[in-house]
Amino acid sequence: MPSPLLDLFAGRLGGRRAVETIIAHRTFSDVVLPPRTRAALDEALSLVHSHELIFTQWGLGEKHSSGLGLAFNFAGPPGTGKTICAEAIATVLGKKLLSVRYAEMESMWAGETPKNVAAVFRMASEQDAVLFFDEADAIASRRTTGAAQAYQRESNTVVNVLLKELEAFNGVVIFATNLAVNFDPAFERRIRTHVRFEMPGVDEREKIWRVQIHPTKTPLADDVDFRALAERYEVSGGDIKNAVLKAATMAAAVPGIDVAKKIYQAELERAMGEVVEGRGVMQQSLFGEGQPSSDDRLMRAIEAAETRWQKSAQVAIAVGGVGALLGIIALVVAIVRG
Ligand SMILES: Nc1ncnc2c1ncn2[C@@H]1O[C@H](COP(=O)(O)OP(=O)(O)OP(=O)(O)O)[C@@H](O)[C@H]1O
Ligand SMILES: [Mg+2]
Repeated sequence: MPSPLLDLFAGRLGGRRAVETIIAHRTFSDVVLPPRTRAALDEALSLVHSHELIFTQWGLGEKHSSGLGLAFNFAGPPGTGKTICAEAIATVLGKKLLSVRYAEMESMWAGETPKNVAAVFRMASEQDAVLFFDEADAIASRRTTGAAQAYQRESNTVVNVLLKELEAFNGVVIFATNLAVNFDPAFERRIRTHVRFEMPGVDEREKIWRVQIHPTKTPLADDVDFRALAERYEVSGGDIKNAVLKAATMAAAVPGIDVAKKIYQAELERAMGEVVEGRGVMQQSLFGEGQPSSDDRLMRAIEAAETRWQKSAQVAIAVGGVGALLGIIALVVAIVRG
């Protein structure tokens, strides 16, 4: 039976759903991870396995009603595989993935967020789904004490509701955050394992290029050299995926019969160049990682304003000086004539 709440949540905002049920099909064979990330994820997986065994097969979930959930934090830069791994965990468990874009949920239903957080936990229970809070930085880090603004009071309530729900939820919850989050200590205590998603090294990048194409159907020209691409571009798996799709679009648009079409190295290089360039523009506008903090930006804006002011003052003094000089000349001329 479809849940009415699900219908409400599935409403679109700018094409992205705030809450979405994903029938998990991707597996860990679709993911290439650096060794340390892989090891941390294996630890998380073994916890998932024993959790399933103890609480489902051994029936202890039916005997106890709290402290049963298993929460992980997947932390890492964009495009490093957090979402695929959450899906792969759901696949391992044979469950659906209920994906919640926290930031969108918050902006879509301001004032309703604590209620909605409780609702998604209920939905995940009903659907026996793995619950995935994507873009959860805001949820994880915010809790203020003392006198607070209305929006801060709401976010405090959200964290409190979340902690209560986590305590009562008998399943797997995965949060995805970036690396810079300072966790609320109460929240941190509920997280069993932090899996740090690192940027792929050159060997991983080479493998990711390969997993992004179809092993038999994608027509690659003989000059394609994934090692060279991996060495040249230090990018995330998400960037590689985007470049492969872009290059394929370029190759398909070349005039001629389809069977003669191939993806060439030059197209892969051009596509990767465009992806990197596009990302640069995004980061500038979003002040992403590696960008100056808001304080730095504020300081720079103040310095720029001061410099502008000094320049204007200099111009005003110069203009004033010229004016005075012209006045003296006029006076001298008037005296001489007179
Ligand atoms: N480690 C990887 N191995 C293979 N493919 C990858 C890897 N990382 C990313 N990709 C590719 O990039 C796509 C985007 O990755 P994914 O959505 O999992 O990244 P993410 O870490 O969740 O990023 P974001 O923080 O932007 O949500 C994947 O669907 C996959 O095709
Ligand atoms: Mg993601």
